[in-house]
Amino acid sequence: MDSDLTLAIIGCGNMGSAILCGILDATSTTNNKESPFTRIVACTKSQASADKLESRYARHSSQIQLDFVAGDNATAAAQADVVILGCKPYLVDAVLAEKGLCDALAGKLVVSIIAGKTIGVLVEGIAKNQSGSATESTTMVARAIPNVAASVRESMTVIELPDAALQSQVKVIEWMFSQIGMVKVIGGELFDCGSMLMASLATVSVAVDGILDGCVAEGMRRADASEMTAQCLLGLAKMLKDGHHPAVLRESISSPRGCTMQGLLAVERAGVRSAFADSIIAGTGHLKRLQEKQLDLLRSSIRSQLASVGLLLVLRLCHSHVSLAQRCRKPQARPSNAFGAGLLNHCAASTRSRIGAGSRVPGIIDQSIVFEIPRPPTRNRGCPCCACAVRANTEQDSICMDPLTDREDRELSLVS
Ligand SMILES: NC(=O)c1ccc[n+]([C@@H]2O[C@H](COP(=O)([O-])OP(=O)(O)OC[C@H]3O[C@@H](n4cnc5c(N)ncnc54)[C@H](OP(=O)(O)O)[C@@H]3O)[C@@H](O)[C@H]2O)c1
Repeated sequence: MDSDLTLAIIGCGNMGSAILCGILDATSTTNNKESPFTRIVACTKSQASADKLESRYARHSSQIQLDFVAGDNATAAAQADVVILGCKPYLVDAVLAEKGLCDALAGKLVVSIIAGKTIGVLVEGIAKNQSGSATESTTMVARAIPNVAASVRESMTVIELPDAALQSQVKVIEWMFSQIGMVKVIGGELFDCGSMLMASLATVSVAVDGILDGCVAEGMRRADASEMTAQCLLGLAKMLKDGHHPAVLRESISSPRGCTMQGLLAVERAGVRSAFADSIIAGTGHLKRLQEKQLDLLRSSIRSQLASVGLLLVLRLCHSHVSLAQRCRKPQARPSNAFGAGLLNHCAASTRSRIGAGSRVPGIIDQSIVFEIPRPPTRNRGCPCCACAVRANTEQDSICMDPLTDREDRELSLVS
């Protein structure tokens, strides 16, 4: 595992400080775990929050150097090797637009814990705010969704990695989130479901509340009922982790004419099982719709932005891009959204000179990397991407692709 790294936590609130605290405790004089980090910069918006963090953590026994910064994310990111994005989802655009921040993220590993923001959207947001020279270094973006139990080191964190992530980066990400509980790497297509599963602590708490209400109705003190319920849940969790199937478990404790069967029938009559299943389906659907909306917004903003300046060339992430990937020295990469995300800046660097001066790569849309190419001078335009003999007949036609892909496996479409 890497060592001597600096971590910046941009948005060190409830979740950010749970991660910070997990890392500090792991590396305290008592636990003394080996850590990839020798320095952590905790960033907040307000000085009051930075002061609060400082008073809570500055005297920790960990050997990790700690700094607390308010309102200067760009400097913190510039000094960091790994950056956690931990602000609220509605603030992410404003944070990424802060002067110099995205330039400082060039070449860094960024781990977002922000719910509902895909890797593609974040990569686009970062690329959009980077100046020319910064786009030449890849910003590797991964996602991690912990849950509220991070504060007691019992989080279950789901992680989505970009395909091009280096083994050393994967180790650092897994190490960070292992300090607040368990980690599971899952594919992008299941990430929304995984995120909703993390949030199911909230729905299960409704069931717990119901149990407590029942106990109180039968005369038990709520505090006693709560203590006993917590221990029952710990026992259930342990048995599930040991591999017990919930249905087998239920049957094994349901005696003939017993109270457990009466209880089970009551919850089944109320449709509790399908209500819980529906809660996962509804939450996952909500996340997907939210992200589709973000994608639509992104798509239309890029389209309108480009319509005025030039042609929009869409290279679909298909077989042809493996060859593009190889040019970008990432032969292990597979075509996918995450792959495209990781490839974005590489492509920007390697194709800018080929497409022509002034061109840039504004973003990833769905399965596509979108290149902007300046509209060539009016009438009898030559090929805008190189000096070959191909002539553009119409405004939407005949861009020579030889500089970008091999003829036989190219798949292109042009949009005005
Ligand atoms: N809480 C959870 O259980 C949980 C679980 C999974 C994922 N998440 C995700 O974690 C993220 C944070 O949630 P949270 O509950 O930790 O929120 P939170 O407690 O409100 O923390 C947000 C932090 O962001 C800081 N911030 C706001 N604007 C900033 C800026 N421009 N620059 C630097 N820092 C800025 C705030 O600083 P100030 O205090 O100075 O405003 C605060 O420290 C969310 O995106 C959420 O989706 C949370």
